[in-house]
Amino acid sequence: MSNVYVFDHPLIQHKTAMIRKTDTTVKDFRELVKEISMLMGYEATRHLPLKEVEITTPMQDAKVNMLAGEDIAIVPILRAGLGMVDGMLALVPNAKVGHIGLYRDHDTHMPVEYYCKLPADIEEREIFVVDPMLATGGSAAAAIDFIKARGGKKIVFMCLIAAPEGIEVLQKAHPDVDIFIAAKDEGLNENAYILPGLGDAGDRLYGTK
Ligand code: PRP
Ligand code: URA
Repeated sequence: MSNVYVFDHPLIQHKTAMIRKTDTTVKDFRELVKEISMLMGYEATRHLPLKEVEITTPMQDAKVNMLAGEDIAIVPILRAGLGMVDGMLALVPNAKVGHIGLYRDHDTHMPVEYYCKLPADIEEREIFVVDPMLATGGSAAAAIDFIKARGGKKIVFMCLIAAPEGIEVLQKAHPDVDIFIAAKDEGLNENAYILPGLGDAGDRLYGTK
């Protein structure tokens, strides 16, 4: 079974509390999502392997550790996942970015795919799938199905707010995928929205409501 990491860092908790507030503006919401993603990304990249290399400093030659060349792909689930990309890119600017377009059908709450474009060498990359919300888990599970069908192997999922129901669904569907979460919430309401949650992440990021 996959590991689930819920972050207890005070900065992450504070900023996650801020994005929940109804009166947080679109501008602040966007900036906070970027900052939280960067803080989470710092920890979620902890497992990346290092290799020893020789360099020359102005003082002498030295053996130092650098990333072992694991190439990274960041894959946001559209739309709201886009808000997490810049924070991750600030840490790993050479990462390639794939996109998966999914929206939840209003009545069935099931994910509907409308776009998928991944780096051609996705099978060789360490893949970070990002989406602020893990509610029923349907979107995340479907996105990871698409990535695996196109050859992706080493995958982690990062979200800001998760419902226990979504965590369970994602772990069952993809027991090999570790999950990084800023906050684990109480559960879902009758419309499959997370409580207390933050509302509709896409609308809050782009001001569409
Ligand atoms: C939201 C969110 C996730 C999905 C989570 O996207 O960004 O992708 O819902 O719900 P689930 O776990 O029940 O699948 P939404 O469908 O609202 O699309 P949007 O980002 O385009 O607004
Ligand atoms: N998608 C959102 O944006 N918010 C929720 O609470 C659930 C799904």
